[in-house]
Amino acid sequence: MTAPVVLITGALTGIGRATALAYAREGAHIVVSGRHQDAGDLLVKELGSLGAQAEFVRADVRFDDDVRYLVDRAVERFRRIDVAFNNAGTEGWRGSITDVTDESYEATFDTNVKGTLLSLKHEFRAMRGTGGGSIVNVSSILGLMAFPESALYAGSKHAVIGITKAAALEGARHGIRVNVIAPGFTQTAMYERSTGNAYNRDYINSVLPMHRPGTPEEIAEAVLYLGSDKAGYITGQTLTIDGGLMSGWPLTPAA
Ligand SMILES: NC(=O)c1ccc[n+]([C@@H]2O[C@H](COP(=O)([O-])OP(=O)(O)OC[C@H]3O[C@@H](n4cnc5c(N)ncnc54)[C@H](OP(=O)(O)O)[C@@H]3O)[C@@H](O)[C@H]2O)c1
Repeated sequence: MTAPVVLITGALTGIGRATALAYAREGAHIVVSGRHQDAGDLLVKELGSLGAQAEFVRADVRFDDDVRYLVDRAVERFRRIDVAFNNAGTEGWRGSITDVTDESYEATFDTNVKGTLLSLKHEFRAMRGTGGGSIVNVSSILGLMAFPESALYAGSKHAVIGITKAAALEGARHGIRVNVIAPGFTQTAMYERSTGNAYNRDYINSVLPMHRPGTPEEIAEAVLYLGSDKAGYITGQTLTIDGGLMSGWPLTPAA
């Protein structure tokens, strides 16, 4: 079997990084992308030590030219892209709807929504030329519900689910599957930033059905599945990975 060629945005930390490492262990060829050259070079070394052929391409997903170059470089190096994981995302700005500004909208939507659209645009171009592929976008449980003062982040992650459905319908006739994951609380730097402090995290754990956040590695396993031929008839779907949170309220407090 030939090694799959995998492209990952926002690959330098958290879920993106865990997914890159998981793909390296599977023997994939990997193009990792992010905004920091030094961290990218280090990650490529780490992936290489696991036996993967890997390359870092610096790209900010808010910019069309960056994403075009990223995709073109991946195809130039490995001839095709089999799996794209559009993971780059930001918690953006949080606050009251009455305080939304041009800047706070752009700080959230330009990465989470425009970045996803630009990634799909160029990945479709590449995959249509090579007979298809699998794309996994990243939403959130806040793509399915909201918290107070989360209008921008929740709005952006709801948008990613709608974009995924439209892209899946368009991709179907070209052999391109497009799905989206909706992680719940997942132990990454974003989780640490958004939850603020240990007191808040203890409270969150007490109401989570499994009384713990997910790990980036648990999210990565779901991405590998959706990216693979084992998910060959699955497209346009949202896979919630939240330890049961969206199923309801656990009723009993943590022991
Ligand atoms: N952790 C959670 O609880 C959780 C829950 C639901 C969904 N998610 C989603 O999961 C994805 C990964 O997040 P994470 O939890 O792994 O947090 P993270 O460690 O902060 O990862 C986000 C990555 O995206 C990169 N990024 C941000 N803006 C970018 C841009 N414009 N261009 C290119 N890269 C950019 C960040 O790099 P920089 O250092 O350059 O900013 C970072 O490496 C995000 O889409 C997030 O919304 C996370």
